[in-house]
Amino acid sequence: MKSKASAPGKVILFGEHFVVYGIKAILCAIDKRITVTAEKTKERKISIKSNIGKLELEKNISLSEINSPLKPFYYLANKIIKNHDIGIEIIIESEIPLGVGLGSSSACCVAGAAAISRLFADTTKEEILKLAIEAEKTIFQNTSGADCTVCTYGGIMEYDKESGFTTIESQPNFHLVIANSNIEHSTETIVAAVKEFKAKNEEEFSTLCRNESELIEDVLKELKDNNIKEIGNKVIQNQEYLEKIGISNDKLRDMVKIGKNRSFGAKITGAGGGGCIFALTDKSNLDNTIKQFKDNNYDCFSVKIDFKGLDTF
Ligand code: PMV
Repeated sequence: MKSKASAPGKVILFGEHFVVYGIKAILCAIDKRITVTAEKTKERKISIKSNIGKLELEKNISLSEINSPLKPFYYLANKIIKNHDIGIEIIIESEIPLGVGLGSSSACCVAGAAAISRLFADTTKEEILKLAIEAEKTIFQNTSGADCTVCTYGGIMEYDKESGFTTIESQPNFHLVIANSNIEHSTETIVAAVKEFKAKNEEEFSTLCRNESELIEDVLKELKDNNIKEIGNKVIQNQEYLEKIGISNDKLRDMVKIGKNRSFGAKITGAGGGGCIFALTDKSNLDNTIKQFKDNNYDCFSVKIDFKGLDTF
């Protein structure tokens, strides 16, 4: 018997970095997915196959001995089958570029938790999310859980450290053109650099936090009215704040400039330093925005918001 599940990637629309200091962030799931298939095997091993490599291990190995991006899958598989006299084979297929801030690891954890747990029981989304966050912590100890949450439920969410997550009921009809710098980034390193910036520029940083907080409140209103032009202006404004805290670089700046030419606004999404930017468009300027990136030799693709979240079949 096989069990299959898929989960969407995500982008942070507004509020990355400032969210670490208590400001709200707005995230959305995107219609690019990771699909995980799990199957029980007679051989009592855990075998994981993906386009980033393979892992085949005995059961009950200490996690500290595993140095692989596939570690969360091992954690999930071992936790779920350790008391059963079987092994498991897991196959991962991804439409999401890895390690560039588009939620690939969270989507893996959510789809993995669903596919593996549902081999044994009809687990709920809430149970799957809990397992997925545990699994993600095996590679990113300080995760807020925001990414796994949006990958599980889909749609747009606001998140802050104190109140957690709230789904935003609006269903805006925009497209995001995502351009990839193809520079891998370490979220932990960049978060540490921002902490240093804050320590050296306390006053400037607290003004930026206040400005970001006001900007997010405005965006929440604009989202209700589906006012894409105004949301685009906020995208541009948010990018200026990200520039000030030092997470941009020449390549990202160039990509944002190109993205802005035809869209409503463009900004870095996620930690920065590399990874991706997005340009906000609707049907009227989607093709021209893609053309701008392509003419300048940048990799890009367009996405819409995914409202489905985790899917099991
Ligand atoms: O690079 P990503 O998409 O994993 O985004 C990190 C978001 C930060 O705000 C920079 C860090 C965090 O934990 O919220």
